[in-house]
Amino acid sequence: MSTSGAPLLQLQGVSIHFGALKAVDGVTLQLAAGERVAILGPNGAGKTTLFNAITGLTPATSGSVLFDGADITRATPDARAHRGIARTFQITNLFFGLTVEDNLLLAARGTARSRFAFWRDGGAQGSERDTVESALTRCQLLAKRHLPVKDISYGEQRQLELAMSLTSEPRLLLLDEPAAGLSPAERVLMAEVIRGLPRTLALVLIEHDIDLALGLVDRVVCMVQGTVLLEGRPDEIRGNEQVQAIYLGRPRHA
Ligand SMILES: Nc1ncnc2c1ncn2[C@@H]1O[C@H](COP(=O)(O)OP(=O)(O)O)[C@@H](O)[C@H]1O
Ligand SMILES: [Mg+2]
Repeated sequence: MSTSGAPLLQLQGVSIHFGALKAVDGVTLQLAAGERVAILGPNGAGKTTLFNAITGLTPATSGSVLFDGADITRATPDARAHRGIARTFQITNLFFGLTVEDNLLLAARGTARSRFAFWRDGGAQGSERDTVESALTRCQLLAKRHLPVKDISYGEQRQLELAMSLTSEPRLLLLDEPAAGLSPAERVLMAEVIRGLPRTLALVLIEHDIDLALGLVDRVVCMVQGTVLLEGRPDEIRGNEQVQAIYLGRPRHA
């Protein structure tokens, strides 16, 4: 299905301006199928806005976004999701009175509905069950499946959000600060879950915890004031003076 040789995701001179503010300013980036990239940068650097240009929440003001060779710069968020782009959110967006498993079933069914454009009522279909089972396993939630979401920990709720984004079987997953607000132990678990995601799934990860981010990705992109300051492998970024300067004085888990 993927166009041979072409990158999975290609951003060419992508900008998003809010009036005079250049939140994203001419970003050019490529991502191969299955590649894992972290986006680092101080608050306000434009990381989340760049995600929005990819998902379609806020389409690019200028430049182009190609996914699997197709120009999706102006495509709706639904059309992009249908092509295989998924994201998780910084805010919790779950049905707290329903069980972990039912939240996943609803997510899986929502995906099925938008994909095949018909409503399936009654019990869960076989493929839905498989999808839910796989998401529960991958996100280490099997033991919690029958608990209402309000009774699981905050860390587990974040794992569930990740699990829900997997039910659409995406080819690209965007993770916006998946470890934000987690305890050190929950952080370790979240990192383990992310590390264990299928290697065929491409990831873009925004994360303030540099150590956590560098341990999960093949490549790092540093953004400052809407632009890409530099790119490199984790080992190149770790000792980089510019990166150190940007983060100097910032608490690691801010
Ligand atoms: N909808 C919006 N309208 C106006 N300004 C925005 C909007 N969204 C983000 N911004 C501004 O764009 C800049 C980049 O924000 P953001 O992408 O959220 O940064 P980051 O995720 O790197 O912290 C910030 O100055 C922010 O205030
Ligand atoms: Mg952000």
